[in-house]
Amino acid sequence: MFKQLRLDSPLPINLTINNRSIQVNQGMTVAAAVLIHGLSYTRTTAISGVNRAPFCMMGVCFECLMVINGQPNQRACCTYVEEGMQVEIQQGAMAYPRSQL
Ligand code: FES
Repeated sequence: MFKQLRLDSPLPINLTINNRSIQVNQGMTVAAAVLIHGLSYTRTTAISGVNRAPFCMMGVCFECLMVINGQPNQRACCTYVEEGMQVEIQQGAMAYPRSQL
């Protein structure tokens, strides 16, 4: 459904999404990387377990929450990809780590 127009960054970024290695351009958000690499959702809801996917792509709806580098509840649309980043689908509600409280 989505595709990256071109991989033209002089220093492509390598990251893993659900243990799958991918390569994307610098300056891309995690949400964009997820969508162009065919992942259809970023989290499941806490009550019904329904799949949810990025919607607004600008930090308002919170539908794109993911576990990024072990930190739950991160908005994928507001997080830029970084080398070696590890991204996972968030399953249901997850508590914030004590360091973020
Ligand atoms: S897609 Fe809406 S907050 Fe990320």
